[in-house]
Amino acid sequence: MHDTSKVALNVKKILCFALLRGQPARLPGSKAIGWDFGVFEMPKILDGVAIAAAIKLEVAEEVRALTAQGIRPGLAAVLVGNVAASEIYVRSKVQTCADLGLYSELITPPDSVTTEEMLDLVAKLNGRDDIDGILIQLPLPKQVDTKALLDAIDPAKDVDGFHPVNAGRLQAGRPALAPCTPAGVIEILKRSAIPISGQHAVVVGRSDIVGKPAAMLLLHQNATVTICHSKTRNLGEITRQADILVAAIGRPGFIKPEMVKPEATIIDVGINRLTTREEFDRFFAGDAKREATFAKRGSTIVGDVHPRAFELSSAYTPVPGGVGPLTIAMLMANTVRAARMRRGL
Ligand code: GUN
Repeated sequence: MHDTSKVALNVKKILCFALLRGQPARLPGSKAIGWDFGVFEMPKILDGVAIAAAIKLEVAEEVRALTAQGIRPGLAAVLVGNVAASEIYVRSKVQTCADLGLYSELITPPDSVTTEEMLDLVAKLNGRDDIDGILIQLPLPKQVDTKALLDAIDPAKDVDGFHPVNAGRLQAGRPALAPCTPAGVIEILKRSAIPISGQHAVVVGRSDIVGKPAAMLLLHQNATVTICHSKTRNLGEITRQADILVAAIGRPGFIKPEMVKPEATIIDVGINRLTTREEFDRFFAGDAKREATFAKRGSTIVGDVHPRAFELSSAYTPVPGGVGPLTIAMLMANTVRAARMRRGL
């Protein structure tokens, strides 16, 4: 038996199939539309919190083993100025180090810091044996030359994977520290037993931090990869071919239901804060749970995928609670990896 919401959802999916393919949707095992509602399942929610927790447990175990050998992996987290969002992220990174047994150091230069002072700091951290990973939280104040700074980090300690040497190694398929968020995307897919090899993965967004490395990591897993971006023509035609759709374009609800192939896996990397009633209603009108959050906090977040688009998928990462938690887990994993690699372990 099916409850009404499930039947309604299945009918919607079937109609979508028909609409998108321009022909009657024939389901496996049935002769006509709607005969076999059991073919479609509710989309599976890919629980990033649970996956991140599993990774953190593994990292904590590795940290214990390394520490027993006299090697305690250490992370230096550099937080410049008083950007509220950066403060929350960095404090959470430092707290997670403590939770997993890593050494960590929070360095907080003032907002007025110069490029030279930051380069000095990086040189010192590069030279310290107790520091395996250096994280400089972005964005930096505009007087600081971000590229010069990221280039100055020892690639062996570049746990964000932003250094061109690591980007190059990743592209060449050599051992590299990969950026944390895209590495987390791969972990979500693998740990959820979602096939990647031979699948058409469409990445929407071409940033150095997410889009490009995500495409490269998917390629290394033998996906057929297409990268789309803000200038792509007929975007919907391409995204509708995706078996795995990765949305990382930084625009709220950018991926609409008609841009999704029914039964695709959707990975939503976006984190966009909605603060006005108008914005809220565009995505969450009638959603009582979201309404409660919005009333309490005066804001809520939406990803780069319109919430209605998830209904068509076979599996998706929610926002919040999908890709987000993986970023810190992978930063911890990268720090331990850097500690090993630096010592040839
Ligand atoms: N700012 C937003 N995301 C990130 C990240 O993953 N690493 C750093 N260093 N800064 C960020």
